Amino acid sequence: MDLSVNTDLSEARGVVGSALAPVDVAAERARTIGATYSHHLNSAGSALPTRTVVESVIRHLRQEEKEGGYEASAARKDDIEAVYVSAARLIGAEAEEIALVDSATTGLRVIVDALRFGTGTRFLVNRSTYVSHALHLLSICAETGAELHIVPSGEDGALDLRALEELLAVGRGSSDVLCVAHVPTSSGLVEPIAEIGALARRYGALYLLDATQSVGHLPVHVAEIGCDALVTTGRKFLRAPRGTGFAYVRRSLLENLTPVAPDVRGAVWNDVRHWELSATARRFETFESSVASRLGLGVALDELLARGIDATAGYLIATAAALRDELANMSGVTVQDPAACASGIVTFTVDGLSAEDANRRLAAMKVRTVSVPASHGQWDLGLRGVASVVRASVHVYNDSSDTRALLDAVGALAGGRA
Ligand SMILES: Cc1ncc(COP(=O)(O)O)c(C=O)c1O
Repeated sequence: MDLSVNTDLSEARGVVGSALAPVDVAAERARTIGATYSHHLNSAGSALPTRTVVESVIRHLRQEEKEGGYEASAARKDDIEAVYVSAARLIGAEAEEIALVDSATTGLRVIVDALRFGTGTRFLVNRSTYVSHALHLLSICAETGAELHIVPSGEDGALDLRALEELLAVGRGSSDVLCVAHVPTSSGLVEPIAEIGALARRYGALYLLDATQSVGHLPVHVAEIGCDALVTTGRKFLRAPRGTGFAYVRRSLLENLTPVAPDVRGAVWNDVRHWELSATARRFETFESSVASRLGLGVALDELLARGIDATAGYLIATAAALRDELANMSGVTVQDPAACASGIVTFTVDGLSAEDANRRLAAMKVRTVSVPASHGQWDLGLRGVASVVRASVHVYNDSSDTRALLDAVGALAGGRA
């Protein structure tokens, strides 16, 4: 993929690299009702869904109203199965390797707990590990004697591969678990996940990828990355309903990974004291879920597959790069992204304003961003000494009217005019 960046926002509209089919931004806006209500630059929080996604959810709820939940879901059995196929297709996996979950945090928790770590386990984590995952790992270490090592970052902000290799080399090989966030919550950083995967394989470490901010945003292909397991959420760059997500577990790893709390969905209780786990990743699922939302996830996945992840990534990266350039040229504004930031997420601060304040004032001007506090990423923002940042994140429904609105509003804040 050609990621060369065009800094002219009007030209970033839809075209990056001649080999890519352009994103039809006008069509994306036309099928995204929310695009007409505000300048929504918060896909890294929860993106705007298309009308088709929302209608598919409502249609199923209406069906449940008429027939009852079990009957309605039985009637959509094939469509529910198709969600696994679409999720697998997006990341280059098999449908049997996919478990549907209600959030990335649930996916991370059930997979990490299934590892049956203990004294001797070393968790090697990158600096931009998400708060919920970090707290889970820290409490495991406090209770079990497992160790946690925060791998340093290099000058460009990305994980320092040499430091990782040194850690892996002195470690105990197979008892190392590498936990890496591909793209963090706290900046536009993109980690070198394939290079990390090569090191994990060389030293026999297990590699768990938090792709919550990258699936639907950047190309994510499990075989190319070499990860053993991956989690993501539906509501962010996938544009799916809230309360959806999926996890991938490599087939050959499945039989060594037994859930701490098997559920009727993931296991058959076949004798007084015996049960048999599902042979597939569904061993990590629970029975109850919002079927309507999962069907919505399926629609969102299919829409993304039709649009193409390379075209999507190209548009997001170029649009964010242009935004970053313009923000960097504004006096009173500091771009907080590290150099390794080829993504659709831009973080910045405005002199004299807390990020919370800046975010509130932007919202009053119908520009939707979020403020990310250090408490969401102590190993990143905390260690960088940054209290909080404003995060703007783009999607295919954002055009130059949105990015211009953000730049004008930030300019007004920085100039003390708003
Ligand atoms: C990098 C990263 N990982 C994990 C999560 C948690 O996702 P969820 O809220 O779906 O559990 C987030 C949420 O913002 C995130 O940004």
